[in-house]
Amino acid sequence: MRMTGDDSDKRRRTLLRRMGIDVWVPREAPAGTPAATEAVDAGGPEPAPPTAPEPSPQPAQPGEPAASGHAVAQMDWQELAATVAGCTRCPLCESRTQTVFGVGRRDADILVVGEAPGAEEDRRGEPFVGRAGQLLDSMLQALGYGRERVFIANILKCRPPRNRDPEPAEVEACRPYLERQIALVAPRVILAVGRVAAQNLLATDKPLRMLRQRLHTLEPQGIPVVVSYHPAYLLRSPADKAKAWDDLKRLRENLPG
Ligand code: URA
Repeated sequence: MRMTGDDSDKRRRTLLRRMGIDVWVPREAPAGTPAATEAVDAGGPEPAPPTAPEPSPQPAQPGEPAASGHAVAQMDWQELAATVAGCTRCPLCESRTQTVFGVGRRDADILVVGEAPGAEEDRRGEPFVGRAGQLLDSMLQALGYGRERVFIANILKCRPPRNRDPEPAEVEACRPYLERQIALVAPRVILAVGRVAAQNLLATDKPLRMLRQRLHTLEPQGIPVVVSYHPAYLLRSPADKAKAWDDLKRLRENLPG
């Protein structure tokens, strides 16, 4: 069943409310003008066709030498997924349950980059599946993009013990994987959520507060990067959800249509 404009406005308002963002709607809009505020008018594109299932990666065999960064940069999706699944480039391979490669459309307009898998993601092998993931889904849906229409990946593919911050050496070891994912997806825009994702992606130590204030560009591809809060932070600090919505509006400005 196809949704009417009214239905989708209503749905978007519900999603924004679920995010904790109040949306003001005028009682009566003058004829011929949009009936709601900008947030409600976040006209998202049509639903995407279902994504193809991920091929089951065949992990590299124990004792096989780790692929060099140069080799990773040449890989296709299947080789990359298999290499990540068997990765032993850093000690996190000893404590992980499994690697968390990433999920979503391989030709997505939006690539979401988070920090690293948490306990639930480590168990399930998929990024952002806990409470923070549910909030991320609501944020994306408010923008008109369901989880299945974006690609979601992390700076690290393995869970750091007790969810500590990634070590620089771990980030370095994992960097070729994210770089290759970015090259393969070739997104229109990247959304970096949280300080760790933003600082590592943009190779800066500026605080999140400053990074959020402007649009960045990932070189050499020239991909726009929007920085926002990590959804886990927003769960603890709901007052900042309205600012996160401002970030998402900046993201939308960099999307086609
Ligand atoms: N937090 C992240 O940054 N990534 C996940 O996959 C889950 C929680």
